[in-house]
Amino acid sequence: MSDDKQPTFTLINNQTGEESILPVVEGTYGPHCIDVRKLYSQTGYFTFDPSFTATGSCKSKITYIDGDEGILLHRGYNIKELAVKSTYMEVCHLLLHGELPNEAELKEFSGHITNHTMVHEQVKSVYQGFRRDAHPMAIMCGVVGTMAAFYHDSLDIWDPEQRRISAHRLIAKMPTMAAMALKYSKGQPYVYPRNDLTYAENFLHMCFSVPAEEYKLRPPVVRAMERILILHADHEQNASTSTVRLAGSSQANPMACIASGITSLWGPAHGGANQSVLEMLDEIGDKKNIPEFIKRAKDKEDPFRLMGFGHRVYKNFDPRAEIMRESCHEVLEELGINDPQLELAMELEKIALEDPYFIDRKLFPNVDFYSGIILKAMGFPVEMFTVLFAVSRTAGWISQWKEMMEEKSLRIGRPRQLYTGEAERPYVEVSKRK
Ligand code: SDX
Repeated sequence: MSDDKQPTFTLINNQTGEESILPVVEGTYGPHCIDVRKLYSQTGYFTFDPSFTATGSCKSKITYIDGDEGILLHRGYNIKELAVKSTYMEVCHLLLHGELPNEAELKEFSGHITNHTMVHEQVKSVYQGFRRDAHPMAIMCGVVGTMAAFYHDSLDIWDPEQRRISAHRLIAKMPTMAAMALKYSKGQPYVYPRNDLTYAENFLHMCFSVPAEEYKLRPPVVRAMERILILHADHEQNASTSTVRLAGSSQANPMACIASGITSLWGPAHGGANQSVLEMLDEIGDKKNIPEFIKRAKDKEDPFRLMGFGHRVYKNFDPRAEIMRESCHEVLEELGINDPQLELAMELEKIALEDPYFIDRKLFPNVDFYSGIILKAMGFPVEMFTVLFAVSRTAGWISQWKEMMEEKSLRIGRPRQLYTGEAERPYVEVSKRK
């Protein structure tokens, strides 16, 4: 019998009357979990939760989302404070090490990252293999994976020092490789990183400087880039982070794991939504067409979805979307840009949030709804939007990977299934098949 103080769930098989007592595990916040690790050995049954709507895949101290209240915390700090008061380097340190750095720690951490921003010169030859019109996410899937072919001295996943160097290399080199993907698509020469610039400044410099003219760093744009990097850094066990953890559970090296995260993020249901939002706004074109698209979004026969709306966890405003919307106004105003797509987006948001279909399903704008408008104003082509998401999320991915690697017992993730295929049947020679 279980200890009365220990919360448990008792499962009763209504056909046999058999009882199974399962322990409940509790966290700091959020739903408690029924620990089903012994369910199969006790009952011979699996749980069934195909898209993990009610499954906790791990314990984590990094990020917490309260979907009903629209709250996002990184190591206990509210995203609304981090986005306004911190730099991305501070948030990277927070995600990786659990604390905001003091001045000395920030200087040392930023220095490590700065010293790893260049890539091996032969990485350039990897880019040469792609078509100039390749989607930059396709390029990133490739080149990030090839980092394992260049940085052999930091692939031992059991060595904490090599894990640390790999984490720094990945955070540091993602902007360089992303900028190289942009330059490659434009047929422009690559721009080397500069050690005198901040992370956000360096990324803008590598993306937009040309040999003939240095990119002029404008404070509103730099601030917006810093904020976008912070807002996309981590988000609990989303699809791409879960992909990174599953890849890491097989003891794959961190470069390969991050490459797997990039592939998962690319999907329009996930990180690819920021590109899809802009394409959707282009398709809507004018406020007068909004009702037709709202109708399509509600039509189950129509695959069209309102991109940038809805979320598995948030059943309230995504706090990142609120911050992004504020930044949209700031950046466009400071740059003197009057983008009709912002007006269109705001009208679409207003109409959708008054529609019972969206209200009943608690569908609100998510982080992707406004980000593309800012990125477009900053000069990024729409194909680069998800690449920027990947640059930022690398900090979260590698922090979650590090957390998993530091657990006492790393076990390979290996879900089971409900088999609904054919029962065993006799083999039929090809000459006898109908
Ligand atoms: C990100 O997980 C994360 O944390 C992700 C992320 C992160 O930081 O890592 O936050 C980043 O991926 C944000 C989400 C970006 N994706 C989009 O904006 C694409 C559009 N959104 C949808 O595809 C959808 O809302 C999802 C994928 C985001 C969530 O899908 P769920 O949780 O599986 O929800 P669902 O499909 O079960 O929807 C529930 C209902 C359904 O209607 P009913 O069957 O109940 O009648 O809501 C409807 C859906 O049809 N619905 C939508 C809709 N999203 C859900 N209807 C129209 N337009 C939408 N966008």
